[in-house]
Formats: sequence, structure tokens, C-alpha cells
Amino acid sequence: MNITFNEENQVFSLETANTSYVIGLADGVYPGHIYYGKKLPKGTIENLDTKLASRTGELPFTPAEKPGEKVSFFDSYPFEYATGGTGDYRETSLELKNSEGFTGCEFKYKSHSITSGKPALSGLPATFADEKDAMTLELVLEDDVLSAELRLLYSVFADSDAVLRSAKVINNSDKPIYIEKILSANLDMDDDKYEMINLYGSWARERHIDRVPLRHGRQYVTSTRGITSHQAQPFLALVQPETTQQKGEVYAMHLVYSGNFKAISELDQFDHVRMAVGISDEKFEWKLDPGSSFQSPEAVLVYSAEGLGGMSRTFHDLYRSHLIRSPYLHSPRPILINNWEATYFDFDEDKLLDIARTAKDLGMDMLVMDDGWFGHRDADNSSLGDWKVYEKKLPGGLKGLVDKVNGIGLKFGIWFEPEMISPDSDLYREHPDYVLGIPGREPAQSRNQYVLDLSRQEVVDQAFAQVEAILASANIEYVKWDMNRPLADLGSMDIPADRAGELAHRYMLGVYQLQERLITRFPNLLLENCAGGGSRFDPGMLYYSPQIWCSDDTDALERLYIQEGTALIYPLSVIGSHVSVCPNHIAGRVTPWNMRGDVAISGTFGYELDITKLDDEEKQTVREQIDTYKKYSELVREGDYYRVASVSENGIYDCYQVVSKDLKNSLAVYVQVKAEPNQHSRKIRLQGLDEDQMYIVHTEIDKLGSEDDEQRVTVPEYTTTGGYLMNIGAYIPSLMGDGRTIKMNIVKK
Ligand code: DGJ
Repeated sequence: MNITFNEENQVFSLETANTSYVIGLADGVYPGHIYYGKKLPKGTIENLDTKLASRTGELPFTPAEKPGEKVSFFDSYPFEYATGGTGDYRETSLELKNSEGFTGCEFKYKSHSITSGKPALSGLPATFADEKDAMTLELVLEDDVLSAELRLLYSVFADSDAVLRSAKVINNSDKPIYIEKILSANLDMDDDKYEMINLYGSWARERHIDRVPLRHGRQYVTSTRGITSHQAQPFLALVQPETTQQKGEVYAMHLVYSGNFKAISELDQFDHVRMAVGISDEKFEWKLDPGSSFQSPEAVLVYSAEGLGGMSRTFHDLYRSHLIRSPYLHSPRPILINNWEATYFDFDEDKLLDIARTAKDLGMDMLVMDDGWFGHRDADNSSLGDWKVYEKKLPGGLKGLVDKVNGIGLKFGIWFEPEMISPDSDLYREHPDYVLGIPGREPAQSRNQYVLDLSRQEVVDQAFAQVEAILASANIEYVKWDMNRPLADLGSMDIPADRAGELAHRYMLGVYQLQERLITRFPNLLLENCAGGGSRFDPGMLYYSPQIWCSDDTDALERLYIQEGTALIYPLSVIGSHVSVCPNHIAGRVTPWNMRGDVAISGTFGYELDITKLDDEEKQTVREQIDTYKKYSELVREGDYYRVASVSENGIYDCYQVVSKDLKNSLAVYVQVKAEPNQHSRKIRLQGLDEDQMYIVHTEIDKLGSEDDEQRVTVPEYTTTGGYLMNIGAYIPSLMGDGRTIKMNIVKK
């Protein structure tokens, strides 16, 4: 890693192990983008002609010679950070309005600094590193008409190929300035027939992969729901048509934020591409008082010359090493039994203890008591906000229950939804003003609930006090933090008219503050974020919790799609995945036990069904699944991830692989989703192994079919090179039936 400034040609160069990012100062004034990609050879920067590389010599682009003649220059120059209203008609990153209501800004280079380390972003989740492991460039720009400063931060890490960016605006004038829009980063490049990849979905269908050619104009991915949402992910990648998992270039951006966002790509009149990501500007406005500043969230930029797989592994390693702070990051996570799909709201202490005893017998580690333990909650229509135990269900109180569960030999975890309030709650009866809503308009309910106005400190404090009291009252080692509806009716008792556009972001800052206080007060707590399944599965949340519930859809086939999309950017160690009952409660589908187990082991493992109703054979299956998970959990948590085959592409089979960092141990999980009659065996090319190393391949085929079934197939253990497995391919027999699974453990000889 290194960051340098070459005085002679006014070029900044940021280097990671495999990439270079180059910024030039056109006419010493406007920071412009020159290059991002494969690491440049020595001597390139020193000999770079900035005018040529920035194309500022081309007529009519002569800002220095004809300073008033700026429009054509502004409308095509590859700005490092595009500002609006003065001639750049593309999607800009910053729009400011002065106190007279005039828009427009033009920031010129003033100074810069290059320092060791990586600054924290006040109140916001962000990547971090020890001083010696990171370097940061700060570009300071000034708009002397507005008396405003723009500070662009760029950080690189010693052990990552990512570039981290953010922007901060400071009002040095004596009047307010209004921020109408502030994105975190934009990246301007020439087009290379790019296609755009993003993740889309819905409740129970989160993070499916979309790939479409760029067309002229702007293509957006956005959420205005106050959460990153089931529907969208603050992520965008541009790839070439020939880019695959293993080959081709990828430019990706991901936003470390959990609220409204916008990710865009624009192909302009000159076939230049601009990609950008940041807080959504829809309904956003921030009043910047004299002397105050606004810090944007952080954008993660990743370039990969090794296809999408290279991109995924860069994100995974970055998040595991520089974003997640939990003490659980590198330790085994408890295998949990969650009572939601087992009982929904219909449980009492006896039922939970029954489940706990069975869980202990099966080898699980923790009982998680889900929704319904507080207030008088028997359905989803009451009690959110009243975080006191429901004594009809738990007559011995919370401590009584937790002590009994601990006595059985299990840890205890609990569910909360601290951001919400039910109309039928004491909290609402006492404080109707705590609700997010527009005066005079009945706030819209969703799942029979309102959203708490967490833009108000008083409301944040009461939520924290209630959660804290419960956690301090018993030996609670895990919290599932849920959030079951989007924001609407953005209004607050506390916010003046000229600050109404700040509400969605202020809400997010309230949530971050709450979670920060929670993990500071209970440093050993295992926090799992969740939002009606996976509607706030984002890097912002990872800063507080090492795992996030991936989706309410636990159907093993649906999960193949959801988990493939999720693993495109997130390490497997953060993906909450459980085995549940069949027919599946969401999809109504029946999948074999082996498939449910083998799909769930690629995440944080657990169960979500009434295990007291299992017969002996099923119980034995569960015990074996738990052994399997334990055998591979470290590999899954710490290893490198490879996508070998995708059912979303071929419709028939799926395969992912994890390889230990030292290349000595690997697991490949193959799912034959659909049996094909009269089909031959397959040779499937594995990835990530040491070509020259001898490996022993142990192929474990699920146990479907009886011992004397003539269709029963086994594959003898064999020894071969990594090169064989990656070029000729590992042997995969064709099996009878849908949902069959094969696990290959590939171990260094
Ligand atoms: C949504 C979550 O995703 C579920 O797992 C469950 O906790 C319910 N909420 C409870 O209301």
C-alpha cells in the first residue's frame, strides 16, 4: 500500500497490492480521475502527462486559458467528485443551495494531506485499521463563493485491494447552506461495453442477481424505504460482457449505510461512464449551520482483474478484517434453535423448556426466544415498545426461564424490535408523540405497527433503557434485533420545517447510536441483525453485528438463489441460515433433509422448527448435520469463497466451495437441484486450490435411498493434484431424485 503525490505533474497515486488509483489536478484546480485498475508498473506515474491523461488539452476544454468558458469542460471532465449547478449535467455527487435559494457549487483544490491510518467517521459505521496498516489521502477543496469546504477522503489498506472513499462538507460562512444531495463517491471512466450487476428482490426473495447491458442514460438502484430494503442493495458492479467468476474486469461500489441510498451508472453522450453511490437525494435536504459539517457514509470501491470471484473475496476479506468488530468474528458461533417457525406467538415456558431439552439432546448450543415474550403479545398487533415480560406465558419471569435454560446446558438468546411501537401499547398511550408521523395525518401502519421517531434523543434513550434493563436482568448472551416495516409518514414533533429533509438520515443515526450503546454496554453480547428477514442486510449493520438473518425464506431451493446473491459481496460467516420444517412455511415446498442441512451449513447455522416433534430417524439426521457443520464451520467462517456453478444460471445444479487460506483444506458443496433422466456424470472444475499440491478427495453423497437400493452410488476416495481438480474436474455422479447433495472434502495429502 502507498499513497504519493507527484508535485511535477500534479498526480496523486494510491496503490494497493494489486491495484492503482490515479487522480490528476487539471490546471492545478479540479481533481480528475485518470485511472483505476490493475497495478501500474513502476515509472508510470512519474512519466505521466497529466494534460494528455486528463484530455484537458483537447479543445474546447481550456478552463485555464478561458476560465469563463467552462460548460463543455465541466460536462465531460472525469471529475473525482462531481458537483452540480455549474455545468456538469451528468449525475452529480453534490448539490448545494445557499440561504437565498440559489443552487450551484464549484470546488477547487486548496490543499491535501497524506497520513497513516484511517480516520473514523463520526456517528457512522465505517471500516477501520491500525495506524500502520492503512494510509489516507485527504483532498481539501474550497468554494470561495459559498465559503464552503469539501474534504474528500481516500483510504487504502495494507492487506486489501479496496479503496475507501467518503466526502465531508463544512460551512465556513455565516449563513446556512442547504445540502440537497451528497453522494459518497463517483467514478468516471470511458465505457468498455459495460454491463451492470446489482442485487434485487422482495420479502422472502432477497438479493437475486441481475445483469444487464448499460444503455445511454442513467440506470438507478435505489431504496427510499428508510432501510436498505428487501428490494435493493446499495451495491453496483460494472463488468465486461466476457467477465465471469474467474476472468475479466469488475468495478464495484458498495455503501456502508443502512438507510435510503442511490447507486447509479450513467453512460453519457461521449460514451463515458459515471458510477456513483451514496445517500438517496429523494426527499433529502440537510441544513448546514454556520461552522457545522456533514459527513457522508463510506463507499467501498473494489476493482478486480480476476472476475466476480476476485471481487467477492476482496469484499469478504475487507469486511472480516476491517468492518466487523464483534468478539465473535473469529470464534465458533453457537448453533441455535429459534422457536419462531416452531411456535410463532403460541408458546409458554413449558414449551420453550421442552424445545431446550430436545435441543440439548441433539447437540445444539443456544435457545433463542423469538417474538411474543413481552407485554401481552399473542399476535403481531400489540405491545411493541413495552419490553416487560409477558407473565401469562412466562410466569417465572425472564430470569426464571433463563436460569432453567442455562441449567439444561444451553445459552439463552432473545428477540427485540426496539425501533417499533404498537398502537396497542402502554408506550403509545403515554407517548403518542414518539411515533414517526406527519401532524394531522394518521400514520400508515404496517404489520399493525408504527415506527418510533429515533431522530429524537429522548426516544432513543427510552428504547435503550428498556433493552438494557431486560439484558441486565438475566444471563442473556444473544440478541436478535428485528425491524419489520419500512418508514413512511416522515414527520417528527421535534423537527422544524427547514430540517424536515433530514429525518430519514437522523433516524439512521439514532439506530446506529442505539446499537453502538448496546454493544458497548454488553461487549460480549452476540448481536444478530434482522429486518423482516433480510431487508437491512448491509455493511452498515455489519459494523455492529457479526451476523445478519438472511431471509425469512428458509426453503432450501430459494436459499440457493438468495445465498448466492448475498455471498457475491458478503462473507459466509455473516449469513444467518437455518434448517426448517417441510413443507416450507413460506414456499410450501418439500426438500430433503440433506439439502436443507447442506444449504444451511454455508452460514451461521441453526434450526427453526419444532424439534420436539421429530421422530428418531429425523433426530439422528439432525445430530449428523450438527457434526457436519462443526466439522466445516471454521473453514466456512474463515476461508476463501468460490462460486463453482450456479443454479440461477444453469437451472439444474449448484456448487460453492470454500478453501482455507493456507490452501490445505477445502469443502465443495454440490446440489443436484433437479434430476435429469439418462444423464451422465459431471466433471466439475473446482477453484482456489494449489495446482501442484496433492489432495485427497473424499466424496460424501447424501444417504437418500436405502443401502440395497441399486441406484445407490458411492465414489471411492481418490488422490490427485489441485491442477487436476481445477482443470479436468472433480467427479460428480448423476443421482436419482431432486435435491440430492454431494459434499467433497479436499484435503492436502
Ligand atoms: C421477522 C423475522 O425475520 C422472523 O425471523 C421473526 O423474528 C419475525 N419477524 C417475528 O416477528
